[in-house]
Amino acid sequence: MNILLIGAGGREHTLAWKLIQSPHCSKLFIAPGNPGTAQCGTNVPIGINDFAAQEQLCRDENISIVFVGPEEPLVLGIHDYFAAAHSRTPIGTDWKGLIGPSKQAAALEGSKAFAKMFMQRHGIPTAAYHEFDASNYTMGMEYIQKQPLPIVLKADGLAAGKGVVICQNHVEALAEFELMIRQDKFGDAGRTVVVEEFLDGIELSVFVLTDGKNYIIFPEAKDYKRIGDGDTGLNTGGMGAVSPVPFADAIFMDKVRQQIVEPTIQGLQKDKLDYCGFIFIGLMNCQGNPMVIEYNCRLGDPETEVVIPRIKNDLPELMLATLTGKLNEIKMDTDARKAVTIMAVSGGYPGDYKKGFPVIGLDELDIPDTIVFHAGTTLTDGRLMTNGGRVVAVTSLGDSIAEAAEQSLYAIEQVYFEDIYFRSDIGFEFR
Ligand code: AMP
Ligand code: GLY
Repeated sequence: MNILLIGAGGREHTLAWKLIQSPHCSKLFIAPGNPGTAQCGTNVPIGINDFAAQEQLCRDENISIVFVGPEEPLVLGIHDYFAAAHSRTPIGTDWKGLIGPSKQAAALEGSKAFAKMFMQRHGIPTAAYHEFDASNYTMGMEYIQKQPLPIVLKADGLAAGKGVVICQNHVEALAEFELMIRQDKFGDAGRTVVVEEFLDGIELSVFVLTDGKNYIIFPEAKDYKRIGDGDTGLNTGGMGAVSPVPFADAIFMDKVRQQIVEPTIQGLQKDKLDYCGFIFIGLMNCQGNPMVIEYNCRLGDPETEVVIPRIKNDLPELMLATLTGKLNEIKMDTDARKAVTIMAVSGGYPGDYKKGFPVIGLDELDIPDTIVFHAGTTLTDGRLMTNGGRVVAVTSLGDSIAEAAEQSLYAIEQVYFEDIYFRSDIGFEFR
């Protein structure tokens, strides 16, 4: 099978690395990819939202499966675009389909208000909330003043991971509310605001692959979102991750399955939401009880960098089973070892940072059970340069989280670019 993978980050390098290990993957194309994915297949200079160019590539290269990495094309309707294109004129002779939900279903990530209503309708445990916009703004101000602290405000739409603000007092919450609804702080994304109860607990990410009726649960992971050691400082896209998560034991995961995953899959069916792909459930462990913080319609980054290396199953086989409604025939086969990934970022990230510094040391890195995944890198005149906030992720597998973390740290210390920064304590609470 020929496969087209969409995206350009560390998540996509990890997926490309895994896809080409399969005897079922003949040719792999990545749109647009990065220098890491270029080592696995052919990068094509097509943007993630350029559906017409992607369709043309699928026709020219007889692609069987399109695998969508990031949320944006899904929320914009890439699934529906390809379904319509294929029904007009079949896409190649081997076309199997696209991994990723329909536009309507991707609203589980694209609209927090939609996701909250879905959870409420299907009895899925989540924080209590109310939704406000310009039409009930005054009610919102009154509501906020009556809520216990802290208060969580969420821009309804996609806001590049920045749309959630946790307010420690009412004055701050009211100011933030005004900024979002009246001052367009997040543009259109923030014109509707979800005001939510604060959940106290430890977070984890659970990944479910569904064909619309059957599902399998991938290994869980924990993402370290804060920039500083000890979980301090600003929120980022993710500075590292571990898998498995020690507190997610069999009892906890049974609760996740029964109280969250099954009602979610049944909810999709009841609401006739067309879903063939990954559901990333952001959970809070509140004293042993899982509560949903958010749904995403894709895999996480950097969670993918620890989850996928622990999967022994053939990834194209899983995708084929998803697209043919046969996930019930699949048994997950997971590496019992622990995985830790550490992300090296540009100095200044998640604020302003500079790009274009040479990245040194990657070619020499050859450590058993350690894998380097490119995120924000680019090749300029044959030289590897930084090209983003998150630059490279280093994943190691070990018998304990402590061992894997130490090895990833040792490896990332061999990498250098100007102003490089990484956390040295990923997995600290489990070591
Ligand atoms: P999101 O953009 O939905 O991923 O939210 C970003 C982060 O905000 C989450 O990863 C949590 O750390 C935090 N968060 C979101 N909702 C809540 C909540 N209700 N209670 C506590 N923390 C939250
Ligand atoms: N690591 C969080 C995310 O991918 O949204």
